[in-house]
Amino acid sequence: MKNLLIISSTKNSNLELSKDIKKFFDNKEDVNCSIISLEQFDLPLYRPELEEKFKNQSHFPDDIEKVKDFLISSDALIWCSPEYNGGISPILTNVIAWISRATDDWRDGFKDKHSLVCSSSGGNGTNFVKGFTIQLSYLGSIVMDKSIIKTKKKDPEKLEFEGVLDQFYNIIN
Ligand SMILES: Cc1cc2nc3c(=O)[nH]c(=O)nc-3n(C[C@H](O)[C@H](O)[C@H](O)COP(=O)(O)O)c2cc1C
Repeated sequence: MKNLLIISSTKNSNLELSKDIKKFFDNKEDVNCSIISLEQFDLPLYRPELEEKFKNQSHFPDDIEKVKDFLISSDALIWCSPEYNGGISPILTNVIAWISRATDDWRDGFKDKHSLVCSSSGGNGTNFVKGFTIQLSYLGSIVMDKSIIKTKKKDPEKLEFEGVLDQFYNIIN
């Protein structure tokens, strides 16, 4: 049984996209799929000074630990996140920074895990997908060369949507 984690950065259209993706995997007996929405956690903005404070107290805040545990216990990752200003949204950048500091090795949450990058954005989300693919690869994740894109004007085509998810399912099994 593979633990597949869908991470939605925001709680609106990216969470809806996450739920649609989860429905696909709920039909697979050998995949245990769950969703987290980063907006449901209380994550402070990463600053070295704050990290130092947490280290002096010998623990990170509970919500950082919770997100870390979700990532560590997953076998594969699907990311649903909007493009902001031609790049990665601050909530996602922030969580990546915390996870890389809260784990024993900075790549522990991502290393050797297959990732699929998806986006519901105002436009086609290409800058986010490209930029985040580079970052995930740097963190040791194996990023699929296809993505699922929803825009304000257009939902993903059903055949394409299922085709990408079928391919990802075959890769992680
Ligand atoms: C600060 C900010 C910057 C944005 N920049 C972009 C952008 O560069 N490209 C784009 O396609 N959409 C951009 N958008 C639109 C979001 O991608 C879009 O509203 C998305 O659907 C939000 O995701 P959500 O519905 O899950 O909250 C931006 C939105 C905000 C708030």
